[in-house]
Amino acid sequence: MQKDVIIACDFPSAEACLEFLDLFKDRPSKPFVKIGMELFYAAGPDIVRQIKERGHKIFLDLKLHDIPNTVERAFRVLANLDVDMVNCHAGGGKVMMEAALRGLSQDQTGAEAKRPLLIAVTQLTSTDDKTLHEDLLIPEEMENVVKHYALNARDAGLDGVVCSPWEAAGVHQYAGEKFLTVTPGIRFESQAGKDDQKRIMTPAKAREAGSDFIVVGRPITRAENPVQAYEKCLADFFGE
Ligand code: C5P
Repeated sequence: MQKDVIIACDFPSAEACLEFLDLFKDRPSKPFVKIGMELFYAAGPDIVRQIKERGHKIFLDLKLHDIPNTVERAFRVLANLDVDMVNCHAGGGKVMMEAALRGLSQDQTGAEAKRPLLIAVTQLTSTDDKTLHEDLLIPEEMENVVKHYALNARDAGLDGVVCSPWEAAGVHQYAGEKFLTVTPGIRFESQAGKDDQKRIMTPAKAREAGSDFIVVGRPITRAENPVQAYEKCLADFFGE
């Protein structure tokens, strides 16, 4: 799949999300959007169908993490939604990730089916060293943990990882150029220090660093003119 800008549609209801997407209805090519837990739990699978019908590509960001059998069966159901990208936690282990891939790759009859890209979350960006060492009792340094989990994801056959744009080049180095990096934490130059994101990068720098997909939420959804902010993101990311 081509590199792209993905808008994080973090809205509390279907109405709020659709009203936001209405702003893009005159645009011939519709933005790639991310649906996360908030919107999916509020609006259910129907919101995925509605957004798809409007011509958007969808990253369904539900971060599955459970026993392999449950994850496989859940992905078999989610595969029916025919989205373009989904994810699970690498912390579930290789066997769980292999099960996730199996669930996505087979239709209800067990036959091989076209599947969405499957991306792994290595460590959440909200997990700091203290949480890693004291709560999770993982003695390794964060960098090593992220690397190990990313290689597990690649070995399990997944397509890439969600990571900070600061880690994108490293991930490509050890996991291969084709292993995708999906990177949130994007801000325009003028917005440095805003919101709760700490390790931020501009769209242009993220592209230079090797991000394949940038995930951008508030800089677009809360902009005075969201369409203009989206166009600026595209232009910066693609260097136009
Ligand atoms: O508004 P903002 O641009 O910060 O939104 C970033 C999006 O990416 C949010 O939906 C957030 O949940 C998601 N995300 C993140 N960091 C991760 C994984 C996902 O910011 N490590």
